[in-house]
Formats: sequence, C-alpha cells, structure tokens
Amino acid sequence: MKLTIEDVRSRFIKHFDGTTGSVYASPGRINLIGEHTDYNNGFVFPGAVEQGMIAELKANGTRNVRAYSIDLKDYVEFSLDCEKGPNATWARYIYGVCREMMALGVPVEGFNTAFAGDVPLGAGMSSSAALESTYAFALNDMFGDNKIERLELARVGQRTEHKYIGVNCGIMDQAISCLGKAGNLMRMDCRSGEIAYFPWNPKGYQLVLVNSCVKHELKGSPYNERRLQCEHVAEVIAKNHPEVTSLRDANYDMLEEVKDQITADEYKRARYVIGEVVRVLAVCEALEKGDYETVGQMMYETHFGLSQEYEVSCEELDFLNEIAKEEGVTGSRIMGGGFGGCTINLIADELVDNFKKVVTEKFEAKYGKKPVIIDVVIGDGARKLC
Ligand code: GLA
Repeated sequence: MKLTIEDVRSRFIKHFDGTTGSVYASPGRINLIGEHTDYNNGFVFPGAVEQGMIAELKANGTRNVRAYSIDLKDYVEFSLDCEKGPNATWARYIYGVCREMMALGVPVEGFNTAFAGDVPLGAGMSSSAALESTYAFALNDMFGDNKIERLELARVGQRTEHKYIGVNCGIMDQAISCLGKAGNLMRMDCRSGEIAYFPWNPKGYQLVLVNSCVKHELKGSPYNERRLQCEHVAEVIAKNHPEVTSLRDANYDMLEEVKDQITADEYKRARYVIGEVVRVLAVCEALEKGDYETVGQMMYETHFGLSQEYEVSCEELDFLNEIAKEEGVTGSRIMGGGFGGCTINLIADELVDNFKKVVTEKFEAKYGKKPVIIDVVIGDGARKLC
C-alpha cells in the first residue's frame, strides 16, 4: 500500500505536542545497469522509484532531536552536540546526517520528527539512502536556506554510511534519491559527478522487480571487502600505468599484465568491473536507438558477472534469473549490492502477466514462499510535500 502524508502526520501529531511541522520525502531506487561501478569511479544508470521515505519535522527549541520510527514503533532522543551518537541503527542515520550537515556549516537546531517508509527493507532498493536524503534535504530547507546543492546532500548521506554505519558505499543510491526525475533514468559519471537524464518510456516493454525476500544488508556483508579488492587491483595496475587511479581507467589487457600479482578472487572482481563500466555506456547507446534487445542482453551479462565473478548473488537470485531466461524475458539481473534482494527484469508487454504467474509458482514450489512482484514506476527525487 502506498504511504501517504496522512500516515506520517497522524503519528507525528500523536507522538508530539499535537502541532504539525513540514513534511519531506525521498525515494528508493532501481538501477538499470552499472552495479558496483560507483566506488570504482565508473558510470551508473539508476532511476528513482515511487516508493520511499516520508518524514515530518518541526524545530523544538532545544539542542535535542526527538525521533520516532513509525514502522519500528521505536523512539530515540539524542543531542546534536554529543560526540557519541545513538545506538539504534535507524537513529544513527538521522544523527549522522545532522552531524554532517553541521560540519558543512548548516546551523541545525533540535527538532521533533516521525518517519515511515514503503521501500521494502533489505530488497536492494536503497531504503537507507532514502532515509538519509529525506533528512539531508529537510535540514537544508529548514535550517540552511537551501544553500547546499543536491549532489552535496547526496554526499552527506554517503558520508553518513561511511562514518556512522560502517558501509563504504559509493554515491549512486544517495545521488539518485536526491537528483531523480519522474519518467527519467539518470546516467551518472561517478568520478566527475556529471549527470545526464534519459527519458524512460520503453515502447512495448516494462520493468518489473522480483523480490526474493532474502534480506540483504550491506552492513557486515562482504561489500567493503569487494571495494578493497578493487582498489588493490587498481593500485597494482597503476605501477605500470600511472594514469589508472581506479578500475574505471583499466582495461582487460592491463588486468592480464598483473594477473600473477593479485589473487584469483581479485582477478575475477576486476574482470567484472571492467566489463560493467563498458556495459553502462553500451546500454545508454542502445536505449537511444530503441534497441531493447541489446539492453536486455547486457543485463544478462551483468547477472553472470555479479554471480560468477563478483560473487554477490545467492541461490534464490540465480534461480529467478534462470526462470526469466526460460520465459523469454528480454533482460534480467540482480539489482543493487547483492547478497539477496531483487532481480530487475525488462519484459515485453505481452509476456508480463505470464512471467509474473510462472515466477511466483516456481519460486514458491522451490522455496515455500512467494516472491514479491513490484511494477517499476520512475518517480521524483527528494522534495518537500507540505
Ligand atoms: C549499494 C551501494 C551503492 C552501490 C551498489 C552496487 O546499493 O550503496 O553505492 O555500490 O550497492 O552497485
């Protein structure tokens, strides 16, 4: 069910002093292609979704933040000036954003807040980025005269992950949550920050997510390890090719040169990333020509790489990918960080209904639970609702 302003406002009124504040929202995301490329300084191609976070905030005249998570029914109070943040992870996101906004010179004051979300948790759709972007955008509006531009707000969210959560993520999720535009995918060069919007209006095709409901959480996962492996390969290559500062600059020949100086795992990780950076650009080119078959083929290649080379898949996701292939789905792959969550599927209109039925039946027969199917609608980035 779609989350509404009223869902959040009614709780805000109930849990605080009966008055209302300002309401903000930020979305989760899909990513058509370009996975694990952001922290390698490559390209990504995400779009914001309609699902996201909604938060109501009101200054309370103190130095404390009083926060209520509607979904978790949990309340936390913390001081903006305390070096040690709260223990609850959900509250650490808010604390981290406040502290990072203050570090940018925004005179953040204490506030009351309640929030809720309708991005499925652990589905690889970036519920945490949606939370960070909502508060970064809100604090910029309430206390910062909107002086900080959206890409910098995204960096506030990214630094929150790094410093307060312990996930050394790239910039993709926060960037699309802050900069997404309804009806458009956004290609981003994660080195320069350059952005190009591509209208997403595929004639004859639809995007459908299939959530395996295998909960993925980047915290404590091998995500940080993957990043270190990539950075190490880039360093080794740079000894012979000083122009290479990240895997985005490398090619397969360079990788072959250093094969015996890196581990077998590092070799596989780098092979995947080098191919993926090229695939994003190929997909953008194919899209401009309306060539969805090529887009789909690249998605399958990405799935193969994420599963066999980058090794961030799981049995359930590989099974979903197999069913997609058998049912003639144009493109299908793991979406997001991996280790669980969704596949993203590009499907010809006439096959959509049957695919949904078959994938549900086969998955349930094998794992004893139904996957959750989500039709993708590309929505807007961070915004004030009222
Ligand atoms: C997570 C991270 C992103 C990105 C993806 C994989 O969603 O937060 O920065 O690395 O995984 O593409």
